[in-house]
Amino acid sequence: MTDASLAAVANFDQKQALDLRERQIAVLGSAKQIAHVIYVVTELGIADRLVDGPQPVGRLAADTETHEDALRRILRAAAAFGIFAEQEDGTFAITPLGEGLTSARIGGLRPMVQFSFHDFNRLPYAEIMHSVRTGEPAFNKVFGMGFYDYLQTHPEVNRFFEGFMAHWSRRLADRFAAELAPERFGRIADIGGSNGYFLAKMLQRHPAGTGVLFDLPEVVADAEPLLKEHGVAERVEVVGGDFFSSPLPVGADAYILKSIVHNWPDDTCVALLKRIRAAIGEADARLIAIDQIVPPLNQWDHSKIIDIDMLVLFGGKERDLREWKAIFGAAGFELVNTPAAYGWALLEARPI
Ligand SMILES: C[S@@+](CC[C@H](N)C(=O)[O-])C[C@H]1O[C@@H](n2cnc3c(N)ncnc32)[C@H](O)[C@@H]1O
Repeated sequence: MTDASLAAVANFDQKQALDLRERQIAVLGSAKQIAHVIYVVTELGIADRLVDGPQPVGRLAADTETHEDALRRILRAAAAFGIFAEQEDGTFAITPLGEGLTSARIGGLRPMVQFSFHDFNRLPYAEIMHSVRTGEPAFNKVFGMGFYDYLQTHPEVNRFFEGFMAHWSRRLADRFAAELAPERFGRIADIGGSNGYFLAKMLQRHPAGTGVLFDLPEVVADAEPLLKEHGVAERVEVVGGDFFSSPLPVGADAYILKSIVHNWPDDTCVALLKRIRAAIGEADARLIAIDQIVPPLNQWDHSKIIDIDMLVLFGGKERDLREWKAIFGAAGFELVNTPAAYGWALLEARPI
């Protein structure tokens, strides 16, 4: 290659890199609009309406009682991200990415979008600067109470949240059942176990085991039908209480905290872990936390985004491995396994 052609290639690469950077900036700077487009198509159930074949916008607008041209522009924007395919004949078709928005897809996006756009989430985000200035949850500023107190006074929101947590459990139950190996334990206590979905899945794999489901009284009130449906109701003791003040179950061989620790700041977590440590007493029981681990410097992981929800909604945080070890140590536990390096992980600890 001549010097001139090498220079031309280098210039071209630079131009491409600049174009890419500009596009990245445009996408990141438009994250709000993009999220709203995804919200609208989720709210209108567009993906479900396309699973049997492409549809003209007019038909979709009539079915969803929306303005045809406005809907066309929303779908065109969604198609620019590969969520749907805009076709020559004016119809829109589903794509592999769009399938993630269908209600049938367990691992899909839909529950996450509904969670993000629920008023209990959307309104505190409008006050995110309060969280950034104070480190306190904007949720409490907006609603005048903590997240879980709000759920207790809004039963329909509480049920939505239980469903959202069960969605995550459905995605994670098999993976973590294998890692947790419930058959090692005679009695398993799920502390903050919501409506019992995860515990039920563990006990289905371990027919000789028994369990204790512990959560707020209003939450465990919904557990019975689910435990019956999974055929484990006779083996589960259901206890309603406050894990910061009520007596915790004693005599369990494993204490599970799934998606609990990340809801709270360090001192509150240490207080809760110390209560579990006291409930274990001299026994050789295990503490099993299932939560996120934040990866090191600059690495992309969803935990770094969920962490912002923890800040704004709960005043909690996602932790890196060093931070996990610190709160375990402060409460009298030591880590005994090698958890996944980042993302969803199972951390097993024993009393020191
Ligand atoms: C993020 S959810 C996790 C639920 C479940 N472990 C799961 O992974 O699906 C947190 C749970 O903690 C419970 N919780 C919050 N504060 C509590 C308290 N003070 N005492 C008992 N349970 C509490 C909530 O009711 C909720 O079910």
